[in-house]
Amino acid sequence: MGKILIATDKPFAAVAVAGIREIVENAGFELALLEKYTDKSQLLDAVKDAEAIIIRSDIIDKEVFNAAKQLKIVVRAGAGYDNVDLVAATSHNVCVMNTPGQNANAVAELVFGMLVYGIRGFYNGLPGTELKDKKLGILAYGHVGRNVARIGKGFGLKQYAFDAYASTVTIENDGVKALSSTEELFKTCQIVSLHIPATPETKKSINYDFMSSMPKGAVIVNTARKEVIDEEGLAKMFAERPDFKYLTDIQPANHAELLATYPDRYFATPKKMGAQTAEANINAGLAAANQIVDFLKNGNEQFRVNK
Ligand code: 3PG
Repeated sequence: MGKILIATDKPFAAVAVAGIREIVENAGFELALLEKYTDKSQLLDAVKDAEAIIIRSDIIDKEVFNAAKQLKIVVRAGAGYDNVDLVAATSHNVCVMNTPGQNANAVAELVFGMLVYGIRGFYNGLPGTELKDKKLGILAYGHVGRNVARIGKGFGLKQYAFDAYASTVTIENDGVKALSSTEELFKTCQIVSLHIPATPETKKSINYDFMSSMPKGAVIVNTARKEVIDEEGLAKMFAERPDFKYLTDIQPANHAELLATYPDRYFATPKKMGAQTAEANINAGLAAANQIVDFLKNGNEQFRVNK
């Protein structure tokens, strides 16, 4: 039977790997594991005889597809698949899927972990502020955005969202006020949480104009992608607005400079931690394994993202 490879630079919890192994082996496949690889050559070597690969934010580009001669499917255990070259996948006749929603609660919980840390002055012993009654803007109302709204309700936040693809009814049924543009969201909300994917349209879309229109005490939380932020605009915002804080799970290119210059207003996790919980690893990892087995055995393409 064919080989299913887990290729994760950032490893899953052991319990998730054990669960994936059970699904894969019960279905009659062999499981191979490549974790914490330090060089792309290790990935290129590991994919040679793999029929399927489970990845996280690992880069799967043309070179990987060229090396993976037996490959039929790649499943990104998670939401964003901007790390996979979909055009190359299609030209190699490989199906690409994600596991939407499976790690959403973990990411949403981290939003609040970072927010409380941020508005309490990074626990510096001085009086900070509270979330209750502040206006939270949720940019994109997908799985993570919805979980943020659910948790935000408990904090007593006044919640707003803008999503070009979600209906007003969907958003307002959750007790969240639907706004009509990104511009309106930034103007209205003191806190904005980003949940847009990295696409050619969204790259650098969070620019200085949006940031600088935020009310006093502005906080942006980014658990989405670093690419969506205009980093020059971010630096300008920091320089011009002493009230501004940026809390991110994905370090921007100017991370070291921001950390050195604004240690009391800039926070970034050392490594992307949003989906790094045992529960999210189990949910997304097991979903990925089940989707692969169902695809290889029954041709089910339900979560396919490439054409
Ligand atoms: C996702 O797109 O699912 C999240 O950004 C999590 O990414 P990770 O699996 O690399 O932690």
